[in-house]
Amino acid sequence: MSFLTEKKRTQKKKTHNCGELNASHDGKTVVLMGWVDTRRDHGGLVFVDLRDRFGLVQVVLNPAEENTKVSKNFRNEFVVAVEGVVRIRPEGMKNSNLATGEIEVEAVQCDILSEAETPPFQVDDSKVTENLRLKYRYLDLRNKRLQHNLAVRHKVCQIVRNHLSDIGFLEVETPILYKSTPEGARDYLVPSRVNLGHFYALPQSPQTLKQLLMIGGMDKYFQICRCFRDEDLRADRQPEFSQIDMEMSFVDQDDVIKMNSELVQKLWKEIKGQEVSEFPIMSYDEAMNRFGCDKPDLRNPLELVDITELATNSGFKVFDEVSSRGGVIKALAVPKAGDFSRGQMDKLTTLAKQMGAKGLVWIKSSAASSINESELTSPISKFFEDVKFKELFEKAGGRPGDAVFMVADGFDVSCAALSAIRIQLGKELGLVDESRDRFLWVVDFPLLEYDPQEKRWVARHHPFTSPQEQYLEQLSDTEESKIAEIKAKAYDLVCNGYELGGGSIRIHRQDIQNKMFKLLGMSEEEVLHRFGFFVEALRYGTPPHGGIAWGLDRLVMLLVGSEAIRDVIAFPKTAKATDLMAEAPSTVEQSQLLELGLRLGAQAEKNING
Ligand code: AMO
Ligand code: AMP
Repeated sequence: MSFLTEKKRTQKKKTHNCGELNASHDGKTVVLMGWVDTRRDHGGLVFVDLRDRFGLVQVVLNPAEENTKVSKNFRNEFVVAVEGVVRIRPEGMKNSNLATGEIEVEAVQCDILSEAETPPFQVDDSKVTENLRLKYRYLDLRNKRLQHNLAVRHKVCQIVRNHLSDIGFLEVETPILYKSTPEGARDYLVPSRVNLGHFYALPQSPQTLKQLLMIGGMDKYFQICRCFRDEDLRADRQPEFSQIDMEMSFVDQDDVIKMNSELVQKLWKEIKGQEVSEFPIMSYDEAMNRFGCDKPDLRNPLELVDITELATNSGFKVFDEVSSRGGVIKALAVPKAGDFSRGQMDKLTTLAKQMGAKGLVWIKSSAASSINESELTSPISKFFEDVKFKELFEKAGGRPGDAVFMVADGFDVSCAALSAIRIQLGKELGLVDESRDRFLWVVDFPLLEYDPQEKRWVARHHPFTSPQEQYLEQLSDTEESKIAEIKAKAYDLVCNGYELGGGSIRIHRQDIQNKMFKLLGMSEEEVLHRFGFFVEALRYGTPPHGGIAWGLDRLVMLLVGSEAIRDVIAFPKTAKATDLMAEAPSTVEQSQLLELGLRLGAQAEKNING
């Protein structure tokens, strides 16, 4: 049965949004349209909270009246129109938690514009599983939180567009059907019907395109663009995501850092009302040494200490062996962890092992007024003299009542393990100062890193990043350690432990670009096939240039204080890169495959047919 009103009474246009009404509208006749958020029957009257993007307002309807009798059929999520008069609520009935809580609307007529089946969940129910919410994303989008997040996202884009336009940037669109743009992930490929056997790649970023725009004389480019990367997904990664991408000619690293710090300041001021004054610049080496990670959360006060020298030659085999092989022993002192239980220590050991460490050792100290009076306990105490043990504990920064955690391994593994513990305990013990956001520029990254699986050097940022001048000669070096030493003109913008953006000054000389490709193990034919057009372009007058790309989704995530990137994207994908609502990806007709000159392999067939 349908309750849709046959002949509409409320032919009038909507006059106001639900959320905008207040005491100043007292006595005014308004026409509202929105969703029934809740409906309560009280002594013959129907009270409805009417909802739209702008808020909620209470409407009082009398089903005994001819013009409002259809209100008895109102149900949650029905879309209705109400014409009524704004009234100040009686004393004692005001609701200070609601922006419109001082008033209500007394309906004189109403209509049902659209009925709704009982939804699979209430839009404000926070206990519903995420998968169900993703399946009915359009219902979840009615939720105040998501509406707020998308509104912030919109505002961010507007601020960025206005700011960059004001300082001389041009917004230029670049193609989506394109050629591989390497950023370290797998490409999403699109088969071409008109050129059988040929594929487009969706851009992992517009990297080569924005550099070509510089060669094309655009001087300053930006774009809020979509990027596609087929990679392992995490809470802060999506297979398609958005970047605020920019490139500038005739700039150096300092210019990019300064200009982007100003953009951070503008965004934080306009969206959070927060003044950001500090943008420390830290080398990659310093970040790794002090925090064990290249995107440290500076709100967390814990720091790593190298204790290799002091901890060696004790007789504890693990430490001695690691240090004799050129490894390091790193330590992390954690306040008030001196009374951690065996169970807590076991959990942390598991975490360290997940990060590749072979184990985790600790020294616990009892609360006392000084280290001398404090009792130190540790599974490895028998290997050390008491005095040395205290020295070790203090060198790591431990105080009475603290625990010191130690990992011995290669530099990268020791850092990764203790960084994970730093992050975990920072959160668990409430050590992170959440009162303000902390930014950081990390610079002087290594240009390359060795990929032991592929047995070759790979670009740490991307192959177009310029080495620092003093290392240019080393590009032709054959010695591994010399290549590992090369530093790049690359920089990352970090906020609260997230990599918010990354960029570099680019190689603008063809000879250096070719050297770089060679170092990456690419043959001349491969370079020609993949980047021939690009290397050729470098020959025709390339301005020195550089740029950066911000992760727009991560930026909005930080601004709204969410921990999941899905919360700031209208239609996000799951960790398995699927869309649960539209059921994408999906199978296609055999005829479509034929048209594209494609046939499924046995494994794909098996996957489809179960
Ligand atoms: P990069 O690969 O560092 O640099 O990417 C820039 C920023 O994009 C965000 N980001 C992501 N966000 C969500 N999901 C993902 N899968 C994802 N991958 C990256 C991050 C990151 O800092 N072309 C270069 C930029 C340049 O050199 O100018 C590039 O894309 O916030
Ligand atoms: P084992 O001698 O392997 O039984 O280890 C003795 C203790 O040292 C255990 O608590 C291990 O977790 C720890 N351990 C082992 N290897 C390492 C390492 N590389 N770094 C830190 N601790 C370790």
